[in-house]
Amino acid sequence: MMGAIQESGLAVFGKSNDAGPQDKWTTERVLSMRWWTPTLVTLRTTRYRGFRFTPGHYTRLGLGAADASLGDWVWRPFSLASAAYDDFLEFIAVLVPGGAFSEQLKHLCAGDRLRVDKASYGFLTVDQLAAGQDLWMLASGTGLGPFLSILQDPAVWQNYERLIVAHSVRHSSELAWRDEIADIPKRELFADAKARLTYLPVVTREPGATQLAERIPLLLADGRLEAAAACPLDVATSRVLVCGNPEMTRELRQSLAARGFATNRRGVPGQMAFEKYW
Ligand SMILES: Cc1cc2nc3c(=O)[nH]c(=O)nc-3n(C[C@H](O)[C@H](O)[C@H](O)COP(=O)(O)OP(=O)(O)OC[C@H]3O[C@@H](n4cnc5c(N)ncnc54)[C@H](O)[C@@H]3O)c2cc1C
Ligand SMILES: NC(=O)c1ccc[n+]([C@@H]2O[C@H](COP(=O)([O-])OP(=O)(O)OC[C@H]3O[C@@H](n4cnc5c(N)ncnc54)[C@H](OP(=O)(O)O)[C@@H]3O)[C@@H](O)[C@H]2O)c1
Repeated sequence: MMGAIQESGLAVFGKSNDAGPQDKWTTERVLSMRWWTPTLVTLRTTRYRGFRFTPGHYTRLGLGAADASLGDWVWRPFSLASAAYDDFLEFIAVLVPGGAFSEQLKHLCAGDRLRVDKASYGFLTVDQLAAGQDLWMLASGTGLGPFLSILQDPAVWQNYERLIVAHSVRHSSELAWRDEIADIPKRELFADAKARLTYLPVVTREPGATQLAERIPLLLADGRLEAAAACPLDVATSRVLVCGNPEMTRELRQSLAARGFATNRRGVPGQMAFEKYW
């Protein structure tokens, strides 16, 4: 099934069939499971009509036995990768060996049910940032997800001149949505867009797979990331969003702070924002 997309053929909008109005979640159905590797999957689900989010937000997904008496539901936060205007929801997930959620997720199939929190959360959004010229989105692993949503926001394409995405993964097979990202500027929705998109894949454990092959903090420190993007990273013009591995976010927060970048403080927009996944 590798690389294959398993689809359910269900109608897109979900009904909150076993959820009452007092519940903080709805029951949705899996529309498709796309396996990039045996441990990396993107899943599409139906979307409750009332579900609202800002690109960059996450929600919580719940998986559990169909018969609740067989066990508790396992809830985990997941970033929304779909566009705010899509009639489905999309997520990317890695299977962590032995992880409570991963152990359930690996059996999930198109047509199956899952629970989706009615609310969305987070601060990895462009409204956390002061106006700027270039938007850098730095991701490791599944941290790319929220940037796929942000990249599909027409306002982002109007408000910035450059959109630069760096995605660091261990192996090239984990460069999820590589072709889809390249195709975003060709969509009719972005035909009059001001911004130019630069996509920088970074494969760290497969020598020769990509031109950039070191971890993002090192590429930033030695200037190779800026050189590859042909764009200086400067606090006056650049805005930076970082998502994924907590060690990476910590290192980048430190190095960007040393260059004068700050996060949103008490409602004063900053030049950088972070989301760490564990
Ligand atoms: C705000 C937020 C948003 C998140 N969004 C996503 C998302 O879009 N996609 C996603 O796959 N996960 C995401 N996560 C992580 C996710 O919630 C779960 O932790 C993950 O699915 C594993 O769950 P688990 O129960 O199997 O293992 P857990 O017990 O939750 O995790 C066990 C260990 O697995 C590792 N791990 C967990 N998540 C990841 C990951 N994403 N990549 C690499 N290693 C990981 C860490 O070492 C962690 O300590 C997010 C987490 C947060 C806090
Ligand atoms: N990816 C796999 O092949 C694989 C397979 C099975 C299970 N898993 C499970 O999935 C989880 C890991 O998933 P993942 O590979 O998506 O995430 P990851 O370990 O965070 O690696 C993703 C990318 O981030 C880089 N990275 C790691 N630490 C960093 C740091 N401190 N600073 C900057 N960059 C850093 C990695 O580079 P490096 O290569 O240099 O670390 C890699 O390019 C683990 O729990 C693992 O058990 C992964």
